[in-house]
Amino acid sequence: MPNSLHSSDAQALQKIIDKMWLDYTQLNPSAKKIYDSFVKEGEKVINDHVAYRTFNHKKLGVQSLAQHIEKYGYKPKNEYFFEQKKLRAQHYEHPNKELPKIFISELELEKVEPFIAEEVEKLVDQVPMSLIQSEELLVCGRPWKLSHETYLKLADVSEYASWVAAFGFRPNHFTVNVNALQKYKDIQSVNQFVKSIGFDLNSSGGEIKGTPEELLEQSSTMAKEIQMSFTDGTFPVPACYYEFAKRYKTPTGELYQGFIAKSADKIFESTNRAR
Ligand code: NI
Repeated sequence: MPNSLHSSDAQALQKIIDKMWLDYTQLNPSAKKIYDSFVKEGEKVINDHVAYRTFNHKKLGVQSLAQHIEKYGYKPKNEYFFEQKKLRAQHYEHPNKELPKIFISELELEKVEPFIAEEVEKLVDQVPMSLIQSEELLVCGRPWKLSHETYLKLADVSEYASWVAAFGFRPNHFTVNVNALQKYKDIQSVNQFVKSIGFDLNSSGGEIKGTPEELLEQSSTMAKEIQMSFTDGTFPVPACYYEFAKRYKTPTGELYQGFIAKSADKIFESTNRAR
């Protein structure tokens, strides 16, 4: 990382972001393959944002995760609502623009079927406060016991709830900053390249979400299934996806840094189970 932040804090922050990337690529070898393929093409891959998911439970809402990045200088920016999926989200930016934005969403438990809130209560009860107060929370994975049976019950009502239950706290996705690529200048050529090396894109609402007029175009792979262990056995579940974002300039000439709720709504479906 360039020396634009010059303190032990900057190093500690970089270390935690490195840990996020390690956790993410170990869990999702396909994301690493795509990353490596860009590097082989001579590209330097910069992250636009890293996304987290949680529940709006009083012990584990957006703020519980955000506190661990805010202490390193990240600041809350825009807030987003996804009415159909019952989600609220907020994104965070660091003064050092080379660091990824962090996008954290939470399921609004009071708006979903009561059984989801009941199951979540049982999961959250298993998480020690010491973990919630530690920045290890950002890379801890699933901090509770979960049966595959419960996972499926949750997934039938909310794919989002089932993902958080199965994977816990870790990056849900990293996002390639397309603006920073040299050869693959637009989202169309990025998509073409990703498909040419054998990966499926999320086509819900079209492969490209958003338009230049909206100042943000995004696409993403579909999450690949991985084998996960549950209290009642090992089962395949969709893990994480890799996202691509191209940003456009606002009328004042700066690159737009926000998100488009309508596009993100479709991107969330990248972790849906195959039907
Ligand atoms: Ni994203």
